Parts: sequence; structure tokens; C-alpha cells
Amino acid sequence: MELKNLDKIVALCKNRGFVFSGSEIYGGFANTWDYGPVGVELKNNIKKAWWKRFVQESPNTYGVDAAILMNPRVWEASGHAQGFSDPKMDCKSCKQRFRADNLIEDHSHGKVSAEAMTNEEMETYIAENKIKCPHCGNFNWTPIRQFKLMFETSRGTVDGEKDTVYLRPETCQGEYVNFLNIQRSARAKVPFAIAQIGKSFRNEITPGNFIFRTIEFEQMELQNFCKEATSFDVYEDYKKQAHQFLLDLNFKDDHLKFHDHDKLAFYAKAACDIFYLFPMGWSELNGIHHRSTHDLSRHQEFSGKSMQYVDPVTNEKFVPNVIEYSIGCDRLVLAVLCEAYDEETLENGETRVVMHLHPALSPYKVAVLPLQKNLSEKAKGILKTLSKEFMCDYDEAGSIGKRYRRQDEIGTPFCVTIDFDTLEDDTVTIRERDSMQQIRLKTNEIVSYINERIKF
Ligand code: GAP
Repeated sequence: MELKNLDKIVALCKNRGFVFSGSEIYGGFANTWDYGPVGVELKNNIKKAWWKRFVQESPNTYGVDAAILMNPRVWEASGHAQGFSDPKMDCKSCKQRFRADNLIEDHSHGKVSAEAMTNEEMETYIAENKIKCPHCGNFNWTPIRQFKLMFETSRGTVDGEKDTVYLRPETCQGEYVNFLNIQRSARAKVPFAIAQIGKSFRNEITPGNFIFRTIEFEQMELQNFCKEATSFDVYEDYKKQAHQFLLDLNFKDDHLKFHDHDKLAFYAKAACDIFYLFPMGWSELNGIHHRSTHDLSRHQEFSGKSMQYVDPVTNEKFVPNVIEYSIGCDRLVLAVLCEAYDEETLENGETRVVMHLHPALSPYKVAVLPLQKNLSEKAKGILKTLSKEFMCDYDEAGSIGKRYRRQDEIGTPFCVTIDFDTLEDDTVTIRERDSMQQIRLKTNEIVSYINERIKF
């Protein structure tokens, strides 16, 4: 299978306003990224599609928007305060820092997993295979040391009396700590789920590959609280749903694969990821984890609040099991961009770059293009009507061919062209992105025509 070229996708993202380097005018700030006008629309549409599928259309699923800064005890209960770290190695020649597990996985092109290896086993593997520094090419490593991944900040106004607080490294703790609130206020019955979309922060040692791994990112996470007896059915069901969601967003099935974890955390009963064939090879896109009663039990222990659920029919009291489905929003943006990017050779031999985005994800649903500038008044009237329904773009500069190409590159599914006939009979040409077919429509038919074709 041919891999997409990440450099070309990054360049298009910058040129067309999907994603820019963070703080660029100051020389950037490593591994932070800013979403531009079309990027923010794409990302919002991805979040909307996820929320629609997993909250709006999912019975017994409730949303939450929890605070980023949480009581520090939360991170003691979750284990992050004690153990959220990665194995790092420094290159003594060029001073660059790497994750030992990534060095092994990259060197073996993903064939060897370091997931289940101890630090000693990783050091031995790196020594035996003479894995060199990817930056300077030398073989001159420090031993492995653990590197803390949580960002710290402090709360308090009096110097010397500040408390350390953490930027959350995952959103799901906000779901666990609201288990009782949501169960009570929504009168939720097990099995039910709590979903959240929000920012997470990790002081990653080796961020990179554009927006694949960053230090600040958004997660879309969902915890299903269920009985132990049905927990594996719930787990299998989320595997199916997670897979179907990606297929419905136009992912090709042979670009996706399930990967069962080689080593389970001591409390986990099952864990798998969906891998996507990114330009740098197969890599994790999302995870589905059977976390047993671990999370609620830990919060029960650390908060002193009972996390037991009382079955209204049997009166049975129990701490529910948790099935977690988690996907990085920015990582999904990257996967969507990679999946959609295409270079097509046209009949006249020219190449067109086109983003075959699912229309529901496209930043603009329609671009309004007057054939000539003296048609702009009519075109702006049509734009005003369409803007009440959709995110629209408007472009009157340059040849119509170039304007179509620009819309193809940002994945706009429809272009409406206003010409002199429009003034006579109130019809426009509507051009579809993928087929490049054009039809003629009455202006009052445009909204329903587009609406029927952008549903998710
Ligand atoms: N609550 C479980 C959890 O956070 P995870 O596997 O660490 O599990 C879930 O993260 C998802 O979040 C990943 O599958 C990935 O899509 C995304 N993710 C994790 N770290 C990331 C990072 N540094 N940058 C971008 N996305 C990240």
C-alpha cells in the first residue's frame, strides 16, 4: 500500500489555512500547533460528528465538560502523580532526547513492540541492535531514566504558599469524578456512559509527526459504567462502534486494523487500539479498554465517597466496571487529512490535489463563485442566503479553474457558479468536488440539494 507524503500534507495545511506552527512569528514553540480558518472548521466538524454518534444517537450517554485543573488528589487516585512517566534516553553526542520504546519501534518499523519490555530489556535490545541516534547517527546513549509527563503549575497568590496543581493529562478523570453527580441528576441506570471532549496536556519526550503527538491536544473520551457480567459485551460493542465511526467518515477498511495490547495493566481485563496507516506507518488512532472496577474503586478509596451503584430492581450494590473508548481529536484530524488527500491526474494531463473529505467534515460546504466581478452583487445575495445554513466561502479572484482547484484542496464539496444566465433565470451551476460533474439548479433549490448530501 502506498503511504501518503506527510510533508506535502503539512505544506498544504499551512498554505490553505488548516494548521500553522504555534507562535510562528517568534520562531515557533516546538510541537504546538494553531488551527487556521479551515482547520478550526474541520476540527469542530469532527467533534460534532463524534458527539452526534456517541452522545446524541447513543442511548444512556451523557455529556460532561469538567474542569482542566482538578483537585491534586485526583492524580494520586489515578496513579498519575506517582507513575505517569516514559522511559527516556539522551544522546550524549547531540543532547537530543528520545523515548526508548519509540527508538525500538521505529527501528523495527513497528514489527517489534516495546510495550511489554522492562527498561533493562529495552537497553539490551538497543545495544544488541546498535540502534543509533535518529538525529546525529551516533551510538552514544545514556541509560534509560523515567521522565515525568504531567505539566505542573501552581495555585495560590502568596509566595511560598503555592500548591502544585496539574494540567490534566487525560480527560477521563473528569468523567469518573462526576459518576455520582451524573447518575443521580440524570437518573441514569447502569449501563450508562459519560462522554467528554476537552484539552489534555502531556510533557511528551518525543512529540512529533505534525499533530500526531503534541504536548497539548484534545481528547474525545467516553466511559461506560456497566455490570461485570455484561462488561465484555459492552467492550466488544465499542470496538464495533469505534470501527464503524471511522468507516462512516470515509476511512478505507484496509487502512485500519485492531491491535490487542501485548501487556495489560494489572487491573485491566482487555485492551486494544485501532491503528491507522499514517504516512509514517501503522500507529495508534484510538483505544478501547476494559478497566474493571479500578478507576471508581480508586476514587472511592481516595475521596472517601461510596461509588457503589444500587440496582433499582434487585437492590444489588456494586461498583460498576468501566469500558473506556478514547480517541485523540487532533490525531483524528491528521488521519482524516491523510485519508482524504489525493493527487489525481486529469484528462488534460494536469494534476489536481483534492481532499476527499466526508462532506459533513468539510470546512466549507459550499463556495460561491461569480464568473466575473460584475456578477458579485447577485453572488453576494446568494452567499447571504446560503450563509444562514452553511459555512460558505466566497471567491471572485482569478480564473474559475483556479478557484475550483483551491476549493478542491480544502475539500469543499460544492461550488456554486453565478453567471449571466443567473440574472435571467435565477439558476446557477453547481459543481460536485469528487466527480467534477456540473448541473444547473434554481437558486431556491441549492439549500435542500446540499443538505441532502452532507448528512452524517
Ligand atoms: N484515558 C485514556 C487515555 O488517555 P491514551 O492512549 O493515553 O489513553 C488516548 O490516549 C488517545 O489520545 C490516543 O489514542 C491518541 O489518539 C490521543 N493522544 C494521546 N497522547 C497524545 C498526544 N501526545 N498528542 C496527540 N494525541 C494524543
